[in-house]
Amino acid sequence: MSPKVICVSIFFAIIATLASTNFFTQQLFLKNLAFFTPQTFSSLPLIIPIPISHNHHHRRHHPDEKKTTKSICDDFPSDFPPPDTNTTSVFCVDSNGCCNFTTVQAAVDAVGALNPKRTVIWINNGIYFEKVMVPRNKSNITFQGQGYTSTAIVWNDTANSAHGTFYSGSVQVFAPNFIAKNISFMNVAPIPGPGAVGAQAVAIRISGDSAAFWGCGFFGAQDTLHDDRGRHYFKDCYIQGSIDFIFGNAKSFYENCHITSIASPVAAGARVINGVVTAHGRASKDENSGFAFINCTIGGTGRIWLGRAWRPFSTVVFSFTNMSDIIAPEGWNDFNDPTRDQTIFYGEYNCSGDGANTTLRAPYAQRLNDTQASPFLNVTFIDADQWLQSYN
Ligand SMILES: *[C@@H]1O[C@H](CO)[C@@H](O)[C@H](O)[C@H]1NC(C)=O
Ligand SMILES: *[C@@H]1O[C@H](CO)[C@@H](O)[C@H](O)[C@H]1NC(C)=O
Ligand SMILES: *[C@@H]1O[C@H](CO)[C@@H](O)[C@H](O)[C@H]1NC(C)=O
Ligand SMILES: *[C@@H]1O[C@H](CO)[C@@H](O)[C@H](O)[C@H]1NC(C)=O
Ligand SMILES: *[C@@H]1O[C@H](CO)[C@@H](O)[C@H](O)[C@H]1NC(C)=O
Ligand SMILES: *[C@@H]1O[C@H](CO)[C@@H](O)[C@H](O)[C@H]1NC(C)=O
Ligand SMILES: *[C@@H]1O[C@H](CO)[C@@H](O)[C@H](O)[C@H]1NC(C)=O
Ligand SMILES: *[C@@H]1O[C@H](CO)[C@@H](O)[C@H](O)[C@H]1NC(C)=O
Ligand SMILES: *[C@@H]1O[C@H](CO)[C@@H](O)[C@H](O)[C@H]1NC(C)=O
Ligand SMILES: *[C@@H]1O[C@H](CO)[C@@H](O)[C@H](O)[C@H]1NC(C)=O
Ligand SMILES: *[C@@H]1O[C@H](CO)[C@@H](O)[C@H](O)[C@H]1NC(C)=O
Ligand SMILES: *[C@@H]1O[C@H](CO)[C@@H](O)[C@H](O)[C@H]1NC(C)=O
Repeated sequence: MSPKVICVSIFFAIIATLASTNFFTQQLFLKNLAFFTPQTFSSLPLIIPIPISHNHHHRRHHPDEKKTTKSICDDFPSDFPPPDTNTTSVFCVDSNGCCNFTTVQAAVDAVGALNPKRTVIWINNGIYFEKVMVPRNKSNITFQGQGYTSTAIVWNDTANSAHGTFYSGSVQVFAPNFIAKNISFMNVAPIPGPGAVGAQAVAIRISGDSAAFWGCGFFGAQDTLHDDRGRHYFKDCYIQGSIDFIFGNAKSFYENCHITSIASPVAAGARVINGVVTAHGRASKDENSGFAFINCTIGGTGRIWLGRAWRPFSTVVFSFTNMSDIIAPEGWNDFNDPTRDQTIFYGEYNCSGDGANTTLRAPYAQRLNDTQASPFLNVTFIDADQWLQSYN
């Protein structure tokens, strides 16, 4: 092992340890994520040789067995992944070849279309450098990672290289009933400089209905999370980007998520805007889409808006969300098209923090009362009773 590789392994061990301790080490944990930026990833070697499992209870220790030749799979937990059940088939992915597949796409390819069981694709710790596509006819797939700081699918297409932002996703999901747990989706294309053209770089595009994400990470800069269409649920997720980094025309509920802007720091007093959290794409009142955020945090760097009106009926509500002072006082933007002021629906409800002061908000931004806010406060917003299963 080269020193660089050891270094990377230790890095993952540290991150994994942090990830497995209780949620309120989150502060410390997020500080460590400063290392976990696209730059870090692009400087990592392409193969991470030793998977380090933080599932210590899965680990077998045999201190007496001193083998002369050590195989890379010796540390592979023998009870990993769990066996099939009556309702799930389990496929295993490990970048070192210690189980069924070495790439996530190979596992997806092996899933039969119209499989009546849920297929759990169990992905071991590591960075999977590949572009992944889940086609429309492969519904009911789960990507199960080992923690969003230790398991990641990473690619680096841009709008330029993929012939359009919509095709730049490192992962693209077209199938319904997709689930992801404890895994990150990253696009490590270079962060666009001011005025860059075609540098949008999506980490994941979610175009299937009824998708759920628990404990996932979404890392990129411009256009990180393409929340394209359908009804989607995000809980305990970490979402990083700069411009329009949660965008699309889906109807989505974001609960307990940490939203981090990586827009360039702005000098105190400067009035420049260099980032936007959302660009929701509802085009007409007949569409039934919108983004609802509840109990989230917004922090990071830059001077940014909460949303801008990509299309005329753009609909976004933030509730019980702690916003740092990176939010510009006007809060929102109508895409410089005042005709949209009558049709966009931008609301805030019981938010806190320096960025949540609504005194100088744009005139069309609404401070919602209890009645107005109620449709946006629970998972009924996404018809959860029709499809959303509990975490386990
Ligand atoms: C799984 O299916 C088998 C055969 O149909 C049945 O005997 C068994 O009880 C089922 N197990 C569970 C947990 O439902
Ligand atoms: C994965 O590997 C296990 C253990 O070798 C095997 O039982 C199972 O059939 C394999 N699954 C697939 C989809 O290849
Ligand atoms: C699933 O879709 C792919 C294209 O995305 C197609 O090639 C394949 O034949 C389809 N399979 C079934 C069983 O419909
Ligand atoms: C997906 O799962 C749902 C319910 O769990 C089932 O009704 C549906 O047939 C499955 N779809 C496919 C294509 O297997
Ligand atoms: C996996 O995600 C769940 C749900 O968000 C979270 O409670 C748990 O701590 C995560 N586990 C790891 C190992 O990241
Ligand atoms: C992605 O990264 C690879 C390896 O560094 C590089 O060769 C390729 O040009 C990059 N692609 C884009 C679109 O930047
Ligand atoms: C709000 O989110 C935090 C994590 O960011 C979580 O610890 C807390 O339990 C959540 N509160 C509610 C009421 O869900
Ligand atoms: C939320 O804010 C509204 C009006 O600003 C207030 O009437 C209500 O009591 C608050 N609700 C909670 C749960 O804090
Ligand atoms: C908002 O978050 C900041 C930074 O984590 C924290 O210091 C502050 O107490 C929070 N405010 C509220 C009202 O929760
Ligand atoms: C909100 O902003 C206004 C205008 O800048 C300011 O006068 C007011 O003191 C602020 N309120 C709080 C609670 O900080
Ligand atoms: C909330 O606002 C709506 C629209 O402005 C208004 O019709 C309604 O009476 C208000 N409800 C409460 C409880 O203040
Ligand atoms: C969600 O909120 C609505 C409106 O307040 C309420 O009617 C409904 O019962 C709530 N649903 C759940 C699942 O809590």
